[in-house]
Amino acid sequence: MTYTPPETVRIFDTTLRDGEQSPGFSMTMKGKLRMARRLSELKVDVIEAGFAAASPGDAEAVQAIAEEADGPIVCSLARVTERDIDAAAEALMAAQRKRAHLFIATSKLHREHKLKMRKGEVLDAIDSGVRYARSIFEDVEFSAEDAMRTEKSFLAECMRTAAEAGATTLNVPDTVGYVTPDEVFDVFSYLIEAVEPEEGIVFSAHCHDDLGMAVANSLAAVRAGVRQIECTINGIGERAGNCAMEEAVMALRTRRDFYGVSTNLDTTKFFDASRTLEDITGEKVQRNKAVVGRNAFAHEAGIHQHGMLSNRKTYEIMSPEDVGAPVSALVLGKHSGKHALFARLEELGHEPPVDMRDAIFEGFKRLADEHHEVTDDQLRTLVAGASNRL
Ligand code: KIV
Ligand code: ZN
Repeated sequence: MTYTPPETVRIFDTTLRDGEQSPGFSMTMKGKLRMARRLSELKVDVIEAGFAAASPGDAEAVQAIAEEADGPIVCSLARVTERDIDAAAEALMAAQRKRAHLFIATSKLHREHKLKMRKGEVLDAIDSGVRYARSIFEDVEFSAEDAMRTEKSFLAECMRTAAEAGATTLNVPDTVGYVTPDEVFDVFSYLIEAVEPEEGIVFSAHCHDDLGMAVANSLAAVRAGVRQIECTINGIGERAGNCAMEEAVMALRTRRDFYGVSTNLDTTKFFDASRTLEDITGEKVQRNKAVVGRNAFAHEAGIHQHGMLSNRKTYEIMSPEDVGAPVSALVLGKHSGKHALFARLEELGHEPPVDMRDAIFEGFKRLADEHHEVTDDQLRTLVAGASNRL
């Protein structure tokens, strides 16, 4: 049987679990609820609200989000133990749509040094954990922690065991951000063929960014047939972070011609979600961050500004409106040219006569050398000075 992946890629958000469990990004219950509202507006498919068994605070947050969220599936992480699964079930009691997300490490390193378990014991734990979860939940995701450093044939066995026990999503985390896009494509192509998932079972990728490849790896996974990607707003997460949702989703959308898939997201809510997270955590994204950084739609170079003034597509592959960002800014600085300067002056209501223009442009360049960015007030003063000298 050949597996035909659906056309829609599910977006599983883990900002409130994997994202929150990293230094600098912890959130209060109020903050988590506020972020969960933004995620619902974005229309993510799944919100991983926390790890109910990890602490009473996490359990309360999962419960509060479960009570409030309408739309996304609300999910709690759990180890493959009855205690953790019961804690997840209790916290998710009020959810309209719920999922248990079970995990156990599968790599040799983790089996030998952390779990002290043999392969057979890991398989038994997966089987019993998933079966127990399925006796409570209809929707069960299984994750093989450190999957990408697990022996490929054993990883396939783990996934097959989880699927046979009733898991509906098979997640393959690159827990330590170790692999590269070509390998990700190979691993998923192998797994999909080896496991032959039944209709309705979805493979998922969960990529960390230790080598800066979480987004590229998630896209490679989609190419191989994966139909859920796990990500966070602004790419926050353990160490260097997780796959940045806004980047992966905008890549799928902008390059739909190449990937041929869509998501259910309202991408116009990305900017707002990104700024809300900054506000809650106090951690700002870097200025040049893709999609939501302050420079993502700012142009300073003269040639670029000239192009932008005649057709935005010359230097923008997506528009700020697509992600809910403020309109593109033509920043006036030392790299700007006459086109941008006089276009801005016209917007400000000034159309200096032709014989004044060279002097204004020279004055502008001097200002730009001193101040990096020339403001509208500085432009007004410059024009007034030039007019007075006439
Ligand atoms: O990175 C990871 O392995 C995880 C799993 C628990 C899903 O976050
Ligand atoms: Zn993770």
